[in-house]
Amino acid sequence: MSIKEKLDTTKIPQHVAVIMDGNGRWAAQRGKDRLEGHNQGAKAARTTVEAAAEIGVKYVTLYAFSMENWNRPKEEVAGLMALLLSSIASQLDDLIKNNIRLKIIGDTSLLPPEVLSQVNNAVAKSQQNNGLTAVIALSYGSRNEILNAAKKLLQKYQNNPFDIDSLTEEDFSKYLYTYDIPDPELLIRTSGELRISNFLLWQISYSELYFTDTLWPDFSKEDFFEAIYQYQQRERRFGKTSQQIATLK
Ligand code: FPP
Repeated sequence: MSIKEKLDTTKIPQHVAVIMDGNGRWAAQRGKDRLEGHNQGAKAARTTVEAAAEIGVKYVTLYAFSMENWNRPKEEVAGLMALLLSSIASQLDDLIKNNIRLKIIGDTSLLPPEVLSQVNNAVAKSQQNNGLTAVIALSYGSRNEILNAAKKLLQKYQNNPFDIDSLTEEDFSKYLYTYDIPDPELLIRTSGELRISNFLLWQISYSELYFTDTLWPDFSKEDFFEAIYQYQQRERRFGKTSQQIATLK
C-alpha cells in the first residue's frame, strides 16, 4: 500500500505551511552553485503544491523569501528574484488551468518593481480560482507582520477611541497578512534544522510541527504524504487532556 493510500481522507489538514530549507546544501553536495539548488527547489515547490491539491489540502504556504534573506549576497538575492520571475512566467498558465489561487504574504514594497508587477499580475489573474490557494511568503517576517498589524490597528483608532479590553485575538488576527486564511494545522521544515525562523509565529500557535532531514530539492510527493500521515497519527489537544478529547469524539 502506498503512503498516499494509507492517508485518512477524513483527516486531511486544510492548511499546510512549509519552510523550504536546504537548497544551498543540496547544491554544495553536488559541487554546484547555490542557485542551482534554488532552481531545483522551485521544482519541489511545484511538486508539493500538486501533491497538496491531489489530497484536498485547501491552502499551502511556502516560505520562499524571508525578510532576513535580503541580507544574502547580492548575486544570490538577484538570482532568487530572477527565479521568481521565471517561475511565475512559466507556471502561470498551469496555475490558472489547475484552478489554483495565488496569494502573497510579506512586505512586497521591498520587491524590485518588475517582480512586484509580475507578482501582482499573477495574483490578479488567479483570483477567480477556487481550488487550492498557494500562499507564497515573500519578503516575509513574522515579527514585522505582527508589528505592522499593531500599527494598522492603532492608526485606525487613533482619532476614534475604542474599548481596548474588548479587543479579541480574532479581531487582532484580521490585521495580519493571513486575515482571510485559516491557521495551518501542520508546519513542515526540511533539511534537519529545528527552528521556526520568524515564520507565521502567531498562526502556528497550535500547529503540529514536522521536521525531516530531506533537503528541500529532494522533497517529493511521497515525502509530503509521509508528513501528512505522521500528522494524522498525532493527537491535537489544544491544551485539553487526552480524556477530554476522547469524550468529545
Ligand atoms: C532555503 O535554502 C531556501 C530559500 C532561502 C529560498 C527558497 C526558494 C525556493 C525554493 C525557490 C523559489 C520558490 C518558488 C515558490 C518559486 P537555503 O538557501 O537556506 O539552503 P541552505 O540552508 O542549505 O544554505
